[in-house]
Amino acid sequence: MVSRVNEKSRKPSNFFGAKRDPDDCLLIIFGGSGDLAKRKLFPALGNLMFKKMLPEKFRILAVGRKPMEVDTLLSMGKYPEGFKDHFEYVQTDYSPEGIAKLKSVCDQVCKDHGIPQNYLHYLAVPPEGYADLAKALRDGGLVHRARAKFWSRLVVEKPYGHDLDSAIELDENLLSSFAEKQIYRIDHYLGKDSVQNLMVFRFANSVFEPIWNHHYIDHVQINSSEVLGVEERADYFDKSGVLRDMVQNHLMQIFCLVTMEPPVNLAAEAIRDEKVKVLRALRPIDLEASPPVAVRGQYGAGEVKGNPAAAYRNEKGVAPGSSTETFVALRLNIDNTRWAGVPFYLRSGKRMVRKGTEVVVTFKRLPNILFNTRGQHVQSNRIVFKIQPQEAILLELTTKNPGQSFELSDTSMNFCYSDHFDTSSDAYERLLLDAVLGDPTLFVRSDETELSWSFIDPLLKHWMEHPKGKEFPNYRAGSDGPQEAVDIILPTDPPTHWTDFSKWDNVC
Ligand code: BG6
Repeated sequence: MVSRVNEKSRKPSNFFGAKRDPDDCLLIIFGGSGDLAKRKLFPALGNLMFKKMLPEKFRILAVGRKPMEVDTLLSMGKYPEGFKDHFEYVQTDYSPEGIAKLKSVCDQVCKDHGIPQNYLHYLAVPPEGYADLAKALRDGGLVHRARAKFWSRLVVEKPYGHDLDSAIELDENLLSSFAEKQIYRIDHYLGKDSVQNLMVFRFANSVFEPIWNHHYIDHVQINSSEVLGVEERADYFDKSGVLRDMVQNHLMQIFCLVTMEPPVNLAAEAIRDEKVKVLRALRPIDLEASPPVAVRGQYGAGEVKGNPAAAYRNEKGVAPGSSTETFVALRLNIDNTRWAGVPFYLRSGKRMVRKGTEVVVTFKRLPNILFNTRGQHVQSNRIVFKIQPQEAILLELTTKNPGQSFELSDTSMNFCYSDHFDTSSDAYERLLLDAVLGDPTLFVRSDETELSWSFIDPLLKHWMEHPKGKEFPNYRAGSDGPQEAVDIILPTDPPTHWTDFSKWDNVC
């Protein structure tokens, strides 16, 4: 459904509100007959057009190898009137001849519609094709120099490499055709409003920033659970696993936004610089720690929402006896003065009991003096950021029950985005528009990607060198993950546990 918008919001704004006019341009989507384009990119462009946020003059060229009807491409999603007039499918391959054909279509379209030769190239193709395609675009005259009269930008989907070496190699290849400032590496979590809000919450509210450190914060949990299993994506996922698929990118980005220092200003580079500093201060994972600080899991058969669910190893396309992890839990430390001694627990898994992404910041307990009449501890205060499916911020407090005695209750102040705002816009809308506007804030810079890979690379290698045989599967589909994940939580008095995230599932 295309959502209604307020007239006032029709001109796009940058990360923190400055209104800008997008340049007229061509949006060239490679992999234009693929799933991502059909499910996400075209509907997002349709919504942007409806909201009048796209440039005055633009054309979308969906590029693919297969013959394809425009109506088939636009069969998923609702499009505003006139969208089809801006859209065409170019059937071609990515050989020099194929790119020459594309170039002549681009020239003609620009001429016919009076559009300057500004090109947004979006690579929604399998990652093995990124380097060659970028080079073919360069050789075929579809890339302008960084400071030329017209601009060209390259949007790259994840996965960005499959380990540190391949990410560096991919960078080298892309950077031989495009300048770093022309490359927009997608992490769709950065397009989620609730993720962007982590930064606003921290730096725009004077009550929280002074206590956002090891003096007051006990520990932080970042969770991303999915109910879905590997679905139709075993080909990709079985070679990837959750550490690459979710942790290296999405969870590490959330982690950086929760922990970074305030940037000197809101320019993209200033924000990215601060994320990079956090990644630099990460303590390397101790691979020999006992109990381990990094736990992997794989789901076995179980039950999901009342239906039987197959074991990962029995899913279509999964290698027999696969050792690929469908669950990861990590304990991290940042060796800087703000976060000295604070454990960060990250967890992500497929085929879990519920879907939800949240960050829970737990504050230190008060000394157990005033309100311990029943020998019980007062609960720790917590701030909960619910990233999805509902978007909310909750503050857990202790309050007094009405009456004469000092009976205490745990209460929660809940702020649900949907009560106040239209929360229907999709991450891809935001990211596509930012790429058109040339705002790289919500995209990942080369050094962020490399540092994040270098952090997890030793663990990836260690796990590859120690495949799991009979130890997998180690959790039931439809559960909370493997028992071993419980042991990465440091012992405390009273004990700390993985949060029961489901308790907030219905607050909004
Ligand atoms: C993708 C992963 O990047 O993110 C998928 O490749 C995962 O495996 C998805 O399911 C989760 O995204 P979201 O927005 O549904 O949390």
